[in-house]
Amino acid sequence: MKIYRARVFTPVADPFTTDADGSYVSHDDGFIAVDGSRITSVGPWDGHPDGEIIDLGRQTLLTPGFVDTHLHAPQLEMIGSYGGHLLEWLNRYTFPTEAKFSDPGHARKVARALCDELVRHGTLCALIFSTIHREATSIFFEEAENYGLRAIIGKTMMDRNAPDYLLESAKDSYDDSRALIRQWHGRGLLRYAVTPRFAPTSTPEQLELAGALKREFPDAYVQSHISENLNEVAWVRELFPEAEYADVYDRYGLLSDRTILAHGVHLTEEELELLSRRATRIAHCPNSNLFLGSGLFPLHRVIESGIGVGLGSDIGAGTTPSMFTAMADAYKVQQVQGVSLSPFQLWFLATLGGARVLSLGSETGSLESGKSADFLALDLRATPLLAMRIERAASIEDLLAALIFMGDDRAVRSAWIAGRQVWTAQPLNSTS
Ligand code: GUN
Ligand code: ZN
Repeated sequence: MKIYRARVFTPVADPFTTDADGSYVSHDDGFIAVDGSRITSVGPWDGHPDGEIIDLGRQTLLTPGFVDTHLHAPQLEMIGSYGGHLLEWLNRYTFPTEAKFSDPGHARKVARALCDELVRHGTLCALIFSTIHREATSIFFEEAENYGLRAIIGKTMMDRNAPDYLLESAKDSYDDSRALIRQWHGRGLLRYAVTPRFAPTSTPEQLELAGALKREFPDAYVQSHISENLNEVAWVRELFPEAEYADVYDRYGLLSDRTILAHGVHLTEEELELLSRRATRIAHCPNSNLFLGSGLFPLHRVIESGIGVGLGSDIGAGTTPSMFTAMADAYKVQQVQGVSLSPFQLWFLATLGGARVLSLGSETGSLESGKSADFLALDLRATPLLAMRIERAASIEDLLAALIFMGDDRAVRSAWIAGRQVWTAQPLNSTS
């Protein structure tokens, strides 16, 4: 048994629906006890069990690993490709970049770089788009497995409205996706997501086959995009005149509690009602929405409709893998709409809320006995300015605020997934 000693903060309930005070557990001097891959107890230091003690000091905060509910692995290398809104950006930068993943060597290089960046930024669980390429998708799975990441990954499905070099037949995309599901879904910490890119790049035939896959493998995930940009919404109306955007996915059996749709900035009341009925979840990607000028996500309208919301970096329209930035940008996007989110709400969205969105809330997302030991050691003195700001934080709430608005990868000192250290910036002290 390993006993990690430091400050401890973890969400344990939803602060959008529970009192702030009941939504978290915090110990100024606390411990997490880990037996193998599991957390066995969490509490104040004076109640710690026997075991090998790893004392990280009071200037370290133990907190759950971050959960990124939406990102595009192949777009890592094109972050910051500026100019143009969604549809121009896709054509100008994204499709040519994704074409390079027909080369397995390129896929391997980017897959390793992505896994490095995720763990270094404290993201220990992620829902990930690959490209249309089967082999590149397998390589993303292989590297996630090598790094010990908890990941849900899917091969993008596209059979129209993209350059020829990124199109496949509906049948080929079904066959390749099916083979990948059989190979990777449920292997260790890995899961598969059926991944039609978005309604405009799939024919009805391809959406039908994506729905067939979901019926064949009911516990597989589905990921796609919805209502990110007004031109995109108008385009979907032209392509599918008989239905609203959310109805398009629903007709093909693609909406369930294992479906995560990115963005949802411009959803109608009817669509919110449908998504809520299907228990479908939304990945809110504030950094990307600002970068592409997509719009301001109506968080409270979505939550009040009963829809689960997580945070996504949306690399490469999002400009960083950092979930600190995702929290800070989520705050600002609500501020300009007259709503002030609390640090507890933001931290929940980036951890337990995201895990729940991915139906992994009983396994990860918080520091609670019985859960997988997926946690971070954050260095509260990572930079002189952060140290100065934390020094005057009079409450755990204010300490979290300092991390949200000033924290970055330099604050992530070490990371563990299922009890195994997957990242460290410096060696840890260990005393028995
Ligand atoms: N909609 C369809 N494809 C994409 C993509 O790659 N990025 C974003 N942000 N939106 C999309
Ligand atoms: Zn996306």
